[in-house]
Amino acid sequence: MKKERFICPYTVYDHLEELDPSDAELLRFAHDAARNAYAPYSKFNVGAAVRLANGAVVLGNNIENAAYPSGLCAERVAMFAAMAQYPGVPFEALAVTAWSATKAIDEPVAPCGACRQVMVEVEQVSQRPLRVLCQGDTGPVMVFDGVESLMPFIFLDKFL
Ligand code: THU
Repeated sequence: MKKERFICPYTVYDHLEELDPSDAELLRFAHDAARNAYAPYSKFNVGAAVRLANGAVVLGNNIENAAYPSGLCAERVAMFAAMAQYPGVPFEALAVTAWSATKAIDEPVAPCGACRQVMVEVEQVSQRPLRVLCQGDTGPVMVFDGVESLMPFIFLDKFL
C-alpha cells in the first residue's frame, strides 16, 4: 500500500493590477459577460471570456432554462462558441467571474467538473497549456497555468 498525493499549483493575485495586462483585460471581459447572463432560477450570474491565439476574445455566460439541465454554464458557452467561430485556432486563456444580486461573491468561482472536462479537450486540441483565471465579483484572482492543476485524473481520448 502506498499513499499518494496530487499537487495542484496555482497563483493567487490580490489585485487585478498585479496581473499581466492581457489577463486583467480578459477578466474585465468576463465581468462584462456576466452582466448579460440569463440566470433567473439560480440568480448566480457567471461570465466567461476566452482568448485565442489569433487575439480574438469570445464571451459566454450561463444560460438557464425552466427544464434545468437544458441550460449551460458560462465556460462551456464561451468555449463552444469559440470553437464554432474559430475552428482550429488554439486557445490561450479562459477567465471566469460571477455576481449575484442576492449575495456578495468575493471568492473565485470554481468551474464545474463538466466544464473542466471540456477545458481538458480544448487544451489538448490547442497543443499548449490553457491558462484559467477565476475571480468572484470582487476579491482575489486564482490563476491556473494549465488544466492539469484543475483536473487531476483526467479522462483522456487515449483511453478510448
Ligand atoms: N455555473 C456556471 O456557469 N459556471 C460554473 O463554473 C458553475 C456554475 C452556472 C450554472 C447555473 O446556471 C448556475 O451557475 C448555478 O449553478
